[in-house]
Amino acid sequence: MNRHLLNRRQFSARCAAFGLSFPALSAMLAAQATAQVLGTGAGSKPAARTVKLPDGTTVPPLGQGCWHLGQGRHPPAVEEEALRTGISLGMTLIDTSGNYGNGRSEQFLSHVIAGQRDRIFLVSKVEGDQVSGDGIARACAASLARLGSEYLDLYLLHWPVPSAQFSGVVAAFEQLRAAGKIRAWGVSNFNVGQMEDLFRVPDGHRCATNQVPYSLNNRRIERDVLPWCKQHNLPVMAYSPLGGDNNLVVGDRTLAQVGTIHGCSAAAVALAWVIRSGSVIAIPESGSPAHVKENAVALSIALTPRDLQTLDEAFPGPFGVARASGATQLPSTCSSCLPPVRRCNAVDSLHSILQIARRKR
Ligand SMILES: NC(=O)c1ccc[n+]([C@@H]2O[C@H](COP(=O)([O-])OP(=O)(O)OC[C@H]3O[C@@H](n4cnc5c(N)ncnc54)[C@H](OP(=O)(O)O)[C@@H]3O)[C@@H](O)[C@H]2O)c1
Repeated sequence: MNRHLLNRRQFSARCAAFGLSFPALSAMLAAQATAQVLGTGAGSKPAARTVKLPDGTTVPPLGQGCWHLGQGRHPPAVEEEALRTGISLGMTLIDTSGNYGNGRSEQFLSHVIAGQRDRIFLVSKVEGDQVSGDGIARACAASLARLGSEYLDLYLLHWPVPSAQFSGVVAAFEQLRAAGKIRAWGVSNFNVGQMEDLFRVPDGHRCATNQVPYSLNNRRIERDVLPWCKQHNLPVMAYSPLGGDNNLVVGDRTLAQVGTIHGCSAAAVALAWVIRSGSVIAIPESGSPAHVKENAVALSIALTPRDLQTLDEAFPGPFGVARASGATQLPSTCSSCLPPVRRCNAVDSLHSILQIARRKR
Protein backbone atom coordinates (compact mmCIF):
# COMPACT_ATOMS: atom_id res chain seq x y z
CA MET A 1 0.00 0.00 0.00
CA ASN A 2 1.17 3.51 -0.72
CA ARG A 3 2.72 5.02 2.39
CA HIS A 4 0.82 8.32 1.99
CA LEU A 5 -2.58 6.64 2.24
CA LEU A 6 -4.70 5.04 4.93
CA ASN A 7 -6.69 1.93 4.16
CA ARG A 8 -10.37 1.88 5.11
CA ARG A 9 -9.75 0.09 8.45
CA GLN A 10 -7.03 2.57 9.43
CA PHE A 11 -9.27 5.48 8.41
CA SER A 12 -12.15 4.17 10.56
CA ALA A 13 -9.84 3.64 13.51
CA ARG A 14 -8.46 7.18 13.20
CA CYS A 15 -11.97 8.60 12.87
CA ALA A 16 -12.97 6.77 16.04
CA ALA A 17 -9.89 8.08 17.83
CA PHE A 18 -10.85 11.63 16.84
CA GLY A 19 -14.52 11.18 17.75
CA LEU A 20 -15.59 11.12 14.12
CA SER A 21 -17.14 7.70 13.90
CA PHE A 22 -20.71 8.89 14.18
CA PRO A 23 -20.69 11.66 11.54
CA ALA A 24 -18.67 9.60 9.10
CA LEU A 25 -20.83 6.55 9.58
CA SER A 26 -24.06 8.51 9.58
CA ALA A 27 -22.90 10.31 6.43
CA MET A 28 -22.64 6.99 4.64
CA LEU A 29 -25.89 5.63 6.07
CA ALA A 30 -27.76 8.84 5.32
CA ALA A 31 -26.40 8.87 1.78
CA GLN A 32 -27.57 5.30 1.29
CA ALA A 33 -30.98 6.00 2.79
CA THR A 34 -31.42 9.15 0.73
CA ALA A 35 -30.38 7.35 -2.41
CA GLN A 36 -32.93 4.62 -1.72
CA VAL A 37 -35.73 7.10 -1.03
CA LEU A 38 -34.92 9.04 -4.18
CA GLY A 39 -34.30 5.94 -6.24
CA THR A 40 -30.84 7.17 -7.12
CA GLY A 41 -28.80 4.45 -5.43
CA ALA A 42 -27.32 3.07 -8.63
CA GLY A 43 -25.79 6.42 -9.48
CA SER A 44 -24.45 7.39 -6.05
CA LYS A 45 -20.77 8.18 -6.07
CA PRO A 46 -18.58 7.37 -3.10
CA ALA A 47 -15.84 9.94 -2.53
CA ALA A 48 -12.62 9.00 -4.30
CA ARG A 49 -10.13 7.35 -1.95
CA THR A 50 -7.03 8.07 -4.02
CA VAL A 51 -5.92 10.11 -6.99
CA LYS A 52 -3.27 8.71 -9.30
CA LEU A 53 -0.52 10.95 -10.63
CA PRO A 54 0.81 10.31 -14.15
CA ASP A 55 3.88 8.45 -12.77
CA GLY A 56 1.58 6.01 -10.92
CA THR A 57 2.05 7.53 -7.44
CA THR A 58 -1.21 7.64 -5.52
CA VAL A 59 -2.10 10.52 -3.22
CA PRO A 60 -5.15 11.24 -1.07
CA PRO A 61 -7.80 13.42 -2.74
CA LEU A 62 -7.75 15.74 0.26
CA GLY A 63 -4.61 17.51 1.44
CA GLN A 64 -3.83 20.57 3.53
CA GLY A 65 -2.81 24.03 2.33
CA CYS A 66 -0.33 26.10 4.36
CA TRP A 67 -0.33 29.57 2.78
CA HIS A 68 -1.01 31.46 6.03
CA LEU A 69 0.29 28.95 8.55
CA GLY A 70 3.23 29.79 10.79
CA GLN A 71 2.44 33.48 10.50
CA GLY A 72 0.41 34.22 13.62
CA ARG A 73 -3.13 33.72 12.41
CA HIS A 74 -3.62 31.07 15.11
CA PRO A 75 -1.22 30.19 17.94
CA PRO A 76 1.60 28.01 16.53
CA ALA A 77 0.75 25.06 18.78
CA VAL A 78 -2.87 25.12 17.57
CA GLU A 79 -1.80 25.21 13.92
CA GLU A 80 0.60 22.34 14.52
CA GLU A 81 -2.16 20.34 16.14
CA ALA A 82 -4.45 21.13 13.19
CA LEU A 83 -1.93 19.82 10.66
CA ARG A 84 -1.08 16.74 12.73
CA THR A 85 -4.80 15.99 13.11
CA GLY A 86 -5.27 16.24 9.36
CA ILE A 87 -2.30 13.96 8.72
CA SER A 88 -3.67 11.39 11.17
CA LEU A 89 -7.01 11.48 9.35
CA GLY A 90 -5.42 10.82 5.96
CA MET A 91 -4.86 14.38 4.68
CA THR A 92 -1.19 13.62 4.17
CA LEU A 93 -0.60 15.82 1.12
CA ILE A 94 0.78 19.16 2.36
CA ASP A 95 1.00 22.20 0.09
CA THR A 96 3.31 25.14 0.74
CA SER A 97 5.54 27.51 -1.21
CA GLY A 98 8.92 29.14 -0.82
CA ASN A 99 7.20 32.53 -0.86
CA TYR A 100 4.42 31.85 1.70
CA GLY A 101 5.22 34.27 4.52
CA ASN A 102 8.71 34.69 2.99
CA GLY A 103 9.57 31.11 3.91
CA ARG A 104 7.84 31.12 7.31
CA SER A 105 5.23 28.59 6.16
CA GLU A 106 8.02 26.13 5.21
CA GLN A 107 9.91 26.77 8.46
CA PHE A 108 6.74 26.13 10.46
CA LEU A 109 6.12 22.93 8.51
CA SER A 110 9.57 21.59 9.31
CA HIS A 111 8.38 21.04 12.92
CA VAL A 112 5.30 19.15 11.77
CA ILE A 113 7.01 16.85 9.27
CA ALA A 114 10.02 16.08 11.48
CA GLY A 115 9.93 12.40 12.35
CA GLN A 116 7.16 11.56 9.88
CA ARG A 117 8.53 12.76 6.54
CA ASP A 118 7.92 9.43 4.80
CA ARG A 119 4.17 9.60 5.58
CA ILE A 120 3.80 12.96 3.89
CA PHE A 121 3.49 13.97 0.26
CA LEU A 122 5.20 17.36 0.37
CA VAL A 123 4.48 20.00 -2.28
CA SER A 124 6.29 23.33 -2.61
CA LYS A 125 6.62 25.97 -5.31
CA VAL A 126 9.11 28.18 -7.11
CA GLU A 127 8.26 31.68 -8.35
CA GLY A 128 8.35 32.88 -11.95
CA ASP A 129 11.04 35.46 -11.19
CA GLN A 130 13.37 32.72 -9.93
CA VAL A 131 13.61 30.62 -13.09
CA SER A 132 16.57 32.16 -14.90
CA GLY A 133 20.06 30.63 -14.67
CA ASP A 134 20.28 28.13 -11.82
CA GLY A 135 17.48 29.95 -9.97
CA ILE A 136 15.17 26.93 -9.73
CA ALA A 137 17.90 24.75 -8.20
CA ARG A 138 18.77 27.51 -5.70
CA ALA A 139 15.13 28.10 -4.77
CA CYS A 140 14.64 24.36 -4.29
CA ALA A 141 17.72 24.10 -2.07
CA ALA A 142 16.44 27.00 0.05
CA SER A 143 13.01 25.38 0.41
CA LEU A 144 14.55 22.04 1.38
CA ALA A 145 16.73 23.75 4.00
CA ARG A 146 13.72 25.56 5.51
CA LEU A 147 11.66 22.37 5.48
CA GLY A 148 14.47 20.23 6.89
CA SER A 149 13.83 17.69 4.16
CA GLU A 150 16.11 16.06 1.59
CA TYR A 151 13.49 16.01 -1.14
CA LEU A 152 10.13 17.34 -2.26
CA ASP A 153 7.48 14.96 -3.56
CA LEU A 154 6.26 17.62 -5.96
CA TYR A 155 7.69 20.98 -7.03
CA LEU A 156 5.43 23.44 -8.85
CA LEU A 157 6.02 26.53 -10.93
CA HIS A 158 3.74 28.88 -8.96
CA TRP A 159 2.66 31.16 -11.83
CA PRO A 160 3.19 30.92 -15.59
CA VAL A 161 6.27 32.44 -17.20
CA PRO A 162 6.39 33.26 -20.95
CA SER A 163 6.07 30.05 -23.01
CA ALA A 164 9.52 30.67 -24.51
CA GLN A 165 10.96 29.88 -21.07
CA PHE A 166 9.11 26.57 -20.63
CA SER A 167 11.88 24.36 -22.04
CA GLY A 168 14.42 25.86 -19.61
CA VAL A 169 12.04 25.42 -16.66
CA VAL A 170 11.30 21.80 -17.59
CA ALA A 171 15.01 21.04 -18.03
CA ALA A 172 15.74 22.49 -14.57
CA PHE A 173 12.93 20.46 -13.00
CA GLU A 174 14.16 17.31 -14.74
CA GLN A 175 17.70 17.91 -13.42
CA LEU A 176 16.34 18.22 -9.89
CA ARG A 177 14.37 15.01 -10.41
CA ALA A 178 17.45 13.18 -11.67
CA ALA A 179 19.38 14.44 -8.63
CA GLY A 180 16.68 13.10 -6.26
CA LYS A 181 15.81 16.57 -4.93
CA ILE A 182 12.26 16.34 -6.25
CA ARG A 183 10.21 13.28 -7.16
CA ALA A 184 7.88 15.04 -9.59
CA TRP A 185 7.13 18.52 -10.90
CA GLY A 186 4.11 20.42 -12.08
CA VAL A 187 2.65 23.85 -12.72
CA SER A 188 0.10 26.20 -11.20
CA ASN A 189 -2.33 28.75 -12.63
CA PHE A 190 -1.77 27.55 -16.22
CA ASN A 191 -4.53 28.00 -18.79
CA VAL A 192 -5.14 25.56 -21.65
CA GLY A 193 -2.95 27.43 -24.14
CA GLN A 194 -0.07 27.36 -21.66
CA MET A 195 -0.61 23.64 -20.98
CA GLU A 196 -0.47 22.95 -24.71
CA ASP A 197 2.73 24.97 -25.07
CA LEU A 198 4.19 23.10 -22.09
CA PHE A 199 3.37 19.70 -23.59
CA ARG A 200 5.19 20.72 -26.80
CA VAL A 201 8.61 21.17 -25.12
CA PRO A 202 10.87 18.17 -24.45
CA ASP A 203 9.69 16.28 -21.33
CA GLY A 204 6.83 18.77 -20.91
CA HIS A 205 4.40 15.85 -20.77
CA ARG A 206 6.07 14.76 -17.50
CA CYS A 207 4.08 17.50 -15.72
CA ALA A 208 2.28 15.85 -12.76
CA THR A 209 -0.51 18.36 -12.13
CA ASN A 210 -1.84 21.86 -12.67
CA GLN A 211 -2.78 23.59 -9.39
CA VAL A 212 -5.67 25.99 -10.02
CA PRO A 213 -8.57 27.56 -8.10
CA TYR A 214 -11.67 25.35 -7.95
CA SER A 215 -14.66 25.47 -5.63
CA LEU A 216 -18.44 25.54 -5.82
CA ASN A 217 -18.36 29.32 -6.20
CA ASN A 218 -15.48 29.29 -8.67
CA ARG A 219 -16.14 26.66 -11.35
CA ARG A 220 -14.35 28.48 -14.18
CA ILE A 221 -11.94 25.59 -14.90
CA GLU A 222 -14.89 23.40 -15.91
CA ARG A 223 -14.97 25.41 -19.14
CA ASP A 224 -11.57 24.31 -20.41
CA VAL A 225 -8.73 23.46 -17.98
CA LEU A 226 -10.56 20.59 -16.29
CA PRO A 227 -11.62 18.85 -19.53
CA TRP A 228 -8.16 19.38 -21.02
CA CYS A 229 -6.48 17.81 -17.99
CA LYS A 230 -8.94 14.93 -18.03
CA GLN A 231 -8.18 14.28 -21.70
CA HIS A 232 -4.48 14.19 -20.86
CA ASN A 233 -4.89 12.05 -17.69
CA LEU A 234 -3.54 14.88 -15.60
CA PRO A 235 -5.05 15.32 -12.13
CA VAL A 236 -5.94 18.85 -11.11
CA MET A 237 -4.99 20.19 -7.69
CA ALA A 238 -7.77 22.50 -6.48
CA TYR A 239 -6.67 25.46 -4.39
CA SER A 240 -9.09 27.66 -2.41
CA PRO A 241 -11.54 24.71 -2.46
CA LEU A 242 -13.73 26.38 0.17
CA GLY A 243 -13.80 29.57 -1.90
CA GLY A 244 -10.77 31.20 -0.28
CA ASP A 245 -10.63 33.63 2.63
CA ASN A 246 -12.70 36.39 1.00
CA ASN A 247 -15.36 34.22 -0.56
CA LEU A 248 -15.88 31.24 1.76
CA VAL A 249 -18.81 28.97 0.93
CA VAL A 250 -19.04 27.45 4.41
CA GLY A 251 -21.94 29.71 5.46
CA ASP A 252 -24.11 28.73 2.51
CA ARG A 253 -27.59 27.49 3.39
CA THR A 254 -27.86 24.86 0.63
CA LEU A 255 -24.55 23.33 1.68
CA ALA A 256 -25.78 23.23 5.28
CA GLN A 257 -28.97 21.46 4.15
CA VAL A 258 -27.03 18.81 2.21
CA GLY A 259 -24.74 18.51 5.23
CA THR A 260 -27.73 17.83 7.48
CA ILE A 261 -28.72 14.89 5.27
CA HIS A 262 -25.21 13.48 5.54
CA GLY A 263 -24.62 14.35 9.19
CA CYS A 264 -21.65 16.58 8.38
CA SER A 265 -20.71 20.24 8.03
CA ALA A 266 -21.25 22.51 5.02
CA ALA A 267 -17.45 22.60 4.59
CA ALA A 268 -17.27 18.80 4.30
CA VAL A 269 -19.98 18.84 1.61
CA ALA A 270 -18.14 21.57 -0.31
CA LEU A 271 -14.91 19.54 -0.24
CA ALA A 272 -16.65 16.26 -1.12
CA TRP A 273 -18.04 18.06 -4.16
CA VAL A 274 -14.58 19.28 -5.25
CA ILE A 275 -13.06 15.79 -5.06
CA ARG A 276 -16.11 13.95 -6.46
CA SER A 277 -14.51 12.94 -9.78
CA GLY A 278 -11.50 11.04 -8.49
CA SER A 279 -9.16 13.19 -10.57
CA VAL A 280 -9.12 16.33 -8.42
CA ILE A 281 -7.10 16.83 -5.23
CA ALA A 282 -8.39 19.54 -2.87
CA ILE A 283 -6.03 21.37 -0.53
CA PRO A 284 -8.15 23.30 2.01
CA GLU A 285 -6.22 25.36 4.52
CA SER A 286 -7.07 25.40 8.19
CA GLY A 287 -5.17 26.28 11.33
CA SER A 288 -8.06 25.03 13.46
CA PRO A 289 -8.12 21.40 14.64
CA ALA A 290 -11.94 21.47 14.81
CA HIS A 291 -12.19 22.66 11.20
CA VAL A 292 -9.68 20.07 10.03
CA LYS A 293 -11.77 17.31 11.62
CA GLU A 294 -14.83 18.63 9.80
CA ASN A 295 -12.93 18.78 6.53
CA ALA A 296 -11.57 15.23 6.81
CA VAL A 297 -15.15 13.89 6.84
CA ALA A 298 -15.29 14.81 3.12
CA LEU A 299 -13.23 11.67 2.48
CA SER A 300 -16.13 9.46 3.55
CA ILE A 301 -19.10 11.28 2.04
CA ALA A 302 -20.96 9.80 -0.93
CA LEU A 303 -22.83 12.64 -2.65
CA THR A 304 -25.93 11.37 -4.42
CA PRO A 305 -27.07 12.51 -7.87
CA ARG A 306 -29.81 14.45 -6.08
CA ASP A 307 -27.19 16.22 -3.90
CA LEU A 308 -25.16 17.05 -7.00
CA GLN A 309 -28.20 18.48 -8.73
CA THR A 310 -29.11 20.55 -5.66
CA LEU A 311 -25.56 21.93 -5.52
CA ASP A 312 -25.57 22.56 -9.28
CA GLU A 313 -28.72 24.62 -8.93
CA ALA A 314 -27.33 26.65 -6.03
CA PHE A 315 -23.91 27.10 -7.68
CA PRO A 316 -24.37 26.82 -11.48
CA GLY A 317 -21.15 26.13 -13.35
CA PRO A 318 -20.05 27.83 -16.58
CA PHE A 319 -22.40 25.63 -18.61
CA GLY A 320 -25.47 26.16 -16.46
CA VAL A 321 -27.48 23.53 -14.65
CA ALA A 322 -27.71 19.98 -16.00
CA ARG A 323 -31.19 18.94 -14.91
CA ALA A 324 -32.33 15.43 -14.08
CA SER A 325 -34.88 15.65 -16.90
CA GLY A 326 -32.02 15.81 -19.38
CA ALA A 327 -32.77 19.38 -20.45
CA THR A 328 -29.62 21.46 -20.21
CA GLN A 329 -29.43 25.20 -19.86
CA LEU A 330 -26.92 26.01 -22.60
CA PRO A 331 -24.11 28.48 -22.23
CA SER A 332 -24.55 31.53 -24.41
CA THR A 333 -21.23 30.79 -26.14
CA CYS A 334 -18.88 27.87 -26.24
CA SER A 335 -15.37 29.15 -26.79
CA SER A 336 -14.21 25.61 -27.42
CA CYS A 337 -16.35 24.59 -30.33
CA LEU A 338 -17.88 27.63 -31.99
CA PRO A 339 -16.08 29.28 -34.91
CA PRO A 340 -13.70 30.99 -35.37
CA VAL A 341 -11.77 28.82 -32.86
CA ARG A 342 -10.12 26.08 -34.87
CA ARG A 343 -8.63 23.82 -32.22
CA CYS A 344 -11.13 22.31 -29.87
CA ASN A 345 -10.36 21.31 -26.28
CA ALA A 346 -13.81 20.67 -24.88
CA VAL A 347 -14.78 17.32 -23.42
CA ASP A 348 -16.65 14.87 -25.60
CA SER A 349 -19.64 14.84 -23.27
CA LEU A 350 -19.98 18.62 -23.42
CA HIS A 351 -19.85 18.51 -27.20
CA SER A 352 -22.49 15.83 -27.28
CA ILE A 353 -24.79 17.87 -25.05
CA LEU A 354 -24.29 21.02 -27.09
CA GLN A 355 -24.60 19.35 -30.46
CA ILE A 356 -27.63 17.26 -29.57
CA ALA A 357 -29.33 20.30 -28.08
CA ARG A 358 -28.57 22.38 -31.18
CA ARG A 359 -29.89 19.69 -33.48
CA LYS A 360 -33.16 19.63 -31.49
CA ARG A 361 -33.65 23.39 -31.81
N1 LIG B 1 -1.14 28.04 -6.39
C1 LIG B 1 -1.68 29.17 -6.00
O1 LIG B 1 -1.59 30.21 -6.66
C2 LIG B 1 -2.48 29.18 -4.71
C3 LIG B 1 -3.30 30.29 -4.42
C4 LIG B 1 -4.06 30.26 -3.24
C5 LIG B 1 -3.98 29.16 -2.38
N2 LIG B 1 -3.13 28.12 -2.68
C6 LIG B 1 -3.03 26.95 -1.76
O2 LIG B 1 -4.34 26.47 -1.44
C7 LIG B 1 -4.53 26.45 -0.03
C8 LIG B 1 -5.98 26.71 0.32
O3 LIG B 1 -6.45 27.89 -0.31
P1 LIG B 1 -7.04 29.15 0.48
O4 LIG B 1 -6.39 29.27 1.78
O5 LIG B 1 -6.98 30.28 -0.48
O6 LIG B 1 -8.59 28.84 0.62
P2 LIG B 1 -9.55 27.78 1.37
O7 LIG B 1 -8.81 26.57 1.77
O8 LIG B 1 -10.70 27.66 0.44
O9 LIG B 1 -10.02 28.61 2.65
C9 LIG B 1 -9.22 28.79 3.77
C10 LIG B 1 -10.09 29.44 4.83
O10 LIG B 1 -11.14 28.55 5.19
C11 LIG B 1 -11.25 28.47 6.62
N3 LIG B 1 -11.72 27.10 6.91
C12 LIG B 1 -11.11 25.93 6.65
N4 LIG B 1 -11.86 24.89 7.03
C13 LIG B 1 -13.01 25.43 7.54
C14 LIG B 1 -14.17 24.87 8.10
N5 LIG B 1 -14.35 23.55 8.22
N6 LIG B 1 -15.15 25.72 8.52
C15 LIG B 1 -15.00 27.07 8.40
N7 LIG B 1 -13.91 27.65 7.87
C16 LIG B 1 -12.91 26.84 7.44
C17 LIG B 1 -9.87 28.76 7.12
O11 LIG B 1 -9.90 29.31 8.40
P3 LIG B 1 -9.35 28.49 9.70
O12 LIG B 1 -7.85 28.47 9.59
O13 LIG B 1 -9.83 29.32 10.84
O14 LIG B 1 -9.96 27.14 9.66
C18 LIG B 1 -9.37 29.80 6.11
O15 LIG B 1 -9.80 31.08 6.50
C19 LIG B 1 -3.54 27.50 0.48
O16 LIG B 1 -3.19 27.29 1.85
C20 LIG B 1 -2.35 27.27 -0.44
O17 LIG B 1 -1.60 26.15 0.03
C21 LIG B 1 -2.41 28.10 -3.83
